[in-house]
Amino acid sequence: MCGIIGYTGKEPALPLILGGLERLEYRGYDSAGVAIIEDGRLIVEKRVGKIRELVKSLWGKPYEGKTGIGHTRWATHGEPSTENAHPHTDEKREFAVVHNGIIENYLELRGELEREGVSFRSNTDTEVIAHLIAKSYRGDLLEAVLEVVKKLRGAFAFAVITVHEPGRIIGVKQGSPLVVGISEGENFLASDIPAILPYTRRVITLSDGEIADLTPEGVNIYDFNGNPITKDITIVPWDLISAEKAGFKHFMLKEIYEQPKAVGDTIRGLLSPAEELPFSLKEFRRVLVIACGTSYHAGLIGKSWIEKYTGVPTEVVYASEFRYGDFPVSEEDLIIGISQSGETIDTKFAINFAKDKGARTLAVVNVVGSSIDREADYTLHTHAGPEIGVAATKTFTAQLTALYFLAASNHGERDKLIAELMKMPARIEAVLEKAEDVERIAQKFMKKKDFLYLGRYLSYPIALEGALKLKEISYIHAEGYPAGEMKHGPIALIDENMPVVVVCPQDRVYDKTLSNVEEVRTRKGIVISVGFEGDERLEKVSREFISVPPVEEDFTPFVTVVPLQLLAYYIASRLGLDVDQPRNLAKTVTVE
Ligand code: AGP
Repeated sequence: MCGIIGYTGKEPALPLILGGLERLEYRGYDSAGVAIIEDGRLIVEKRVGKIRELVKSLWGKPYEGKTGIGHTRWATHGEPSTENAHPHTDEKREFAVVHNGIIENYLELRGELEREGVSFRSNTDTEVIAHLIAKSYRGDLLEAVLEVVKKLRGAFAFAVITVHEPGRIIGVKQGSPLVVGISEGENFLASDIPAILPYTRRVITLSDGEIADLTPEGVNIYDFNGNPITKDITIVPWDLISAEKAGFKHFMLKEIYEQPKAVGDTIRGLLSPAEELPFSLKEFRRVLVIACGTSYHAGLIGKSWIEKYTGVPTEVVYASEFRYGDFPVSEEDLIIGISQSGETIDTKFAINFAKDKGARTLAVVNVVGSSIDREADYTLHTHAGPEIGVAATKTFTAQLTALYFLAASNHGERDKLIAELMKMPARIEAVLEKAEDVERIAQKFMKKKDFLYLGRYLSYPIALEGALKLKEISYIHAEGYPAGEMKHGPIALIDENMPVVVVCPQDRVYDKTLSNVEEVRTRKGIVISVGFEGDERLEKVSREFISVPPVEEDFTPFVTVVPLQLLAYYIASRLGLDVDQPRNLAKTVTVE
């Protein structure tokens, strides 16, 4: 996590860097800082809090320096404080570094430096990089960086500038994302593409083990041994408008409303010959789906579809558990890694691990050119467009689309199934038209301290997803549970204060779920149900009933998840919370 940006060119760097940091803020936002080379010295400004605190502190300080770096932080080593905020400098303040990721051997390196008399100002792992580069510097920043990267262990990306070579920025990528933006007489470095989109759409995506050497005149790429590398320049297909709020109060709400388009675009994208897979799922002994958070919930639903349409046994594992478990993986397995960002480090490492074992790997990612996109053998792209809100919404329904498409493509009735899938954008539209009902319910229950979410079969992952959305943006405790498991423990929690959100479409487990609703009612729990329009049985036993258009069983997740996203959104928004950037979270999780 953390966002880094660098600029070298003909304009004053400060406004460009601050603008870029605002667009990177979703990556982390507990503190921020910039370093500019101004008249042969380093100006470093850092603040705890959001980027606006940094911007305020720079008002009335019109620095003109044309080279600089910036950082927005999500703390790993050292609490959020001005000292721990980036950029970090060497003792003489001649070198400044911004960094994303973790230097695993920093304690060892710090110990060595301290024994040599270096004094540290922060508790971060990053500061060692600044001191090491200063010590290795003999007139060429690239040479110094090449010497230092050999000493660093971990997954990281960093950028460094020095007063000795104004106009030059060196960027290093090893595990964490880093892209170079190319323009006329100016060049950029950033953790993510949206940071530089207003200035250029010409991008080089760095791979692990690569170093970028930027000046206003050009960019050279090297490996860690200093050998030059030729890289392709990609033209980014998004435009900035699609990354702005378009009149919505929050990105999350805009993205919830973009779901019909995200699903439609994903189907269209997957129908293109470029996305066709050269194998059938039925060739494999087993499918193993690996993902985190919301992507994991999409995987749970994908498992049911894959098993239904292919008969291939499918398991879904949290990437962070997979890596350190003893899962037997072989060439007979297909590993599907699902990741919106394509950068989640646990998922990425799990894919690498599976590849090493000889398994074939398939990624489902939203960000084209991301690490997971590049490292997996094959990719199915979700075409949801950039998702800025930290809580995933449209990328979840786009992931469902890709997984359904994959499962259906391996079945004799493929065309019929995909034709049904194509009806989902209209069905989601219909749910969105009822958003006001959800808003009213949100207002009624926003002060509750705990929520329980229940569902069975395909609605169980939806219950998990609904609970995750509520927790992450409203900070209200919420638990998702298989409805049938409730009687084995969670039922003890139910009393007249407990809202229980029950996802109960008319599917194969409808009657069973309805019995669970009765169990909740008997214990005076507040039943908020999500069910099909016209379902009077369910409406009658619910305190609140949210209706969604009736769809075939397979497609219920597409319509039932939307009210749960809206419920979480309206509760958090009415509580006055920072919906798009909830505390402690980051959009891209590049630490283990
Ligand atoms: C979702 O709302 C969360 N922000 C989070 O759980 C997310 O889904 C998870 O970190 C996985 O991210 P990825 O899809 O980019 O790999």
